[in-house]
Order: sequence, then C-alpha cells, then structure tokens
Amino acid sequence: MENTEKKKQIVFSAIQPSGTITLGNYLGALRNWVKMQDNPDYNCLYALADLHTITVRQEPAAMRRNIIDAYAMVMACGVDVDKAPFFIQSHNPNHSIMAWILNCYTQFGELSRMTQFKDKSQKHADNINAGLFTYPSLMAGDILLYQADKVPVGADQKQHIELTRDVAARFNSIYGNVFKIPEGFIPKDSSRVMSLQTPTNKMSKSDENANGCIMMTDTDDVIMKKFKRAVTDSEMKVRYAEGKDGINNLMAIYAAVTGLSYEEIERDFDGKGYGDFKTAVGEAVVAEVSPIRKRYEEYIKDKKYIEECYTRSAEFAIRISSRTVDKAMKKIGFILPKKDQ
Ligand code: TYM
Repeated sequence: MENTEKKKQIVFSAIQPSGTITLGNYLGALRNWVKMQDNPDYNCLYALADLHTITVRQEPAAMRRNIIDAYAMVMACGVDVDKAPFFIQSHNPNHSIMAWILNCYTQFGELSRMTQFKDKSQKHADNINAGLFTYPSLMAGDILLYQADKVPVGADQKQHIELTRDVAARFNSIYGNVFKIPEGFIPKDSSRVMSLQTPTNKMSKSDENANGCIMMTDTDDVIMKKFKRAVTDSEMKVRYAEGKDGINNLMAIYAAVTGLSYEEIERDFDGKGYGDFKTAVGEAVVAEVSPIRKRYEEYIKDKKYIEECYTRSAEFAIRISSRTVDKAMKKIGFILPKKDQ
C-alpha cells in the first residue's frame, strides 16, 4: 500500500541564554518557533544554547540566572514542551561530541570568513579563544544531530546555516547520506530588527544606548518611551525608502506585529507626523509583549516546573540525537561499545 501520509519536516533552532531576550530575538526567531510548533506539518525541537555562551567569559551566578530566565521567557513566548521539546544544550553530551567530529571536517579558511567571529574577536580582543573560532561547528552539530529540514532564525545566522550546509554536504560526499541538508527559515519583515537609536546596527542587548533595544521584560511605559525616542529623519513622511533607516525599521516592526503591508502603513499614516506613527508602533508592540511579560513573571516563580520541562526535553533530545552520532561514528570508522538491550 502506498503511504500517502505526508512526512513531517523536522524543525530545530536554539537561542543563547546570554542576557535578557530582546524584541529582535522574538520577531526574528522565537515567533516563528511558536508558529511552526503549532503547525501540523512540522515536528519541532528547540534548545537553549548554553555551551555557545562560554565563548565569552561568563560570571557563574549570572550565567545560572540567565539560563533559567531565558528558559522561562522562551516558554512565555509560547514554546510548549508538550508540542516541542525545549532542552538545555549542555544536558545532551552529543552536542559536544558532534562539534568535535565536525571540527575535523570544517576548514580553517571557512571559519576565518565568519563575520560573527570577526565582530566578536574585535569586541573581546582580550579573549579570542579557540571556542569563539569553532563556534560554527558546534552550531552545525546542533542542527545536524536532529536531521533538521528547517531552522527558524534571524538574518544574522544565515552565514552559519550556509556553513552547516557545506559541511554536511562534504561529510555526505565522503560517507553517504548521513546528514539532512537543512534550510534557514527567515521571516520576511523582521529578519533583522535594528537598534532604535542607531538604526544601521542590529538591535542587540549589548547596545551602548539602552534606549536602542526593547527587552521582552520591559514594562509598557518603558516600551512606549523607547519608541517615542526612536531616531527618525527630517522628511516627516512615513514611507519605506533607501536612507530612511529609522523609519524603515519602525515600519518593519509595525508590519511584523500588525500583519499590515508597507503600502497599507503608508496609506494609514499619510498626512500624519512621526509622533503619531511612533505611538502606534509602541502601542502595537506593547499589545504583543505585555501578555508575554506577564506569563514570564508567572513561569519564573515556578522553578520546579521549569526543571521538569528541561529534564524531560533533554531525555528526548539525547535519544533522538544518539542515532545520528552512532551513524556518523560508524561511517567514520569508530568502533561503538556494545549497548545494553
Ligand atoms: P542568538 O542567541 O544571538 O539569537 C537568537 C535568535 O534571535 C535572532 N536575532 C535577531 N533576529 C532579528 N533581529 C535581531 N536584531 C536579532 N537578534 C537576534 C537570531 O538570528 C537567532 O535566530 N548562534 C545562535 C544560537 C544557536 C543556533 C543553533 C541557532 C546555537 N545553535 C542552532 C539555530 C540553530 C545565536 O547566537 O543566536
């Protein structure tokens, strides 16, 4: 009998718990994590990429707090472990094993070309460690371990996904079909949310000016204030055009949260000033972020539940990823130990 049931695609993504989650993280990635988890065409699995964060020096107590805070915030954004297991990367040793394997199939030249490595080694010039350099191999392993078809991320991760595809194809060309070749899944309007203060730079928690970045924990008042202070231009016309970086960014954010097209936004704000537009963008963002912040405040009180969720998710992740590790190791020539039943 022909199997007519469509095979579900596998979705994997991860986020670093390196401080408060931003509106950029949410609109660029987390919102798609939730949409995909709720779509019956996909089987989703997500991770908190804590191993990635130690490429930059962390203070132990702050790191522990950041991990739990980020876990609670991702759940508050809508990730539901009953639909999509959400685990902590370091709880699954297969990630470290696969990172080592892939390091041996990734070229020095390829890693040298990564813009994130160049940026971070400039920013942390006193600690350009080997982990910072081989970070993309760890990330490639994260994705390939689960045979992911799709990886929902923001545009800044595109280069890492390309490298993942190249390394997977190289490995497959030597050993046969071991890894699925994954694709990035990048949103249309909000793939690169920019700073509200320096709209030529990506919105990031490390923005020198705190007004540039909306944190998902910001109160409604703070969000409104940050949008009211957003940098614009002297034209005073709400339209999407080259050179209008501030307005383009506000339009992209507004389009992402309301679902309106740029033409509709231009029509709605025809003849109105930037003040009205900034207020509308602020209110639309508050409507989206406020219920998430309230859910976060509930989850963060319940450490027991968080622990139960990440423990259960890690068991699942270990089981699934062990199949890929075993297969890759056998193909390479390793001898595997005898397994108990
Ligand atoms: P991270 O933790 O920096 O960011 C998490 C996700 O948020 C997206 N993002 C943005 N999107 C739009 N506009 C912005 N201003 C913005 N800032 C961040 C990122 O693109 C990302 O999707 N290396 C990854 C984490 C990672 C990973 C993986 C991702 C580790 N392993 C495997 C996918 C698959 C990172 O540092 O993302």
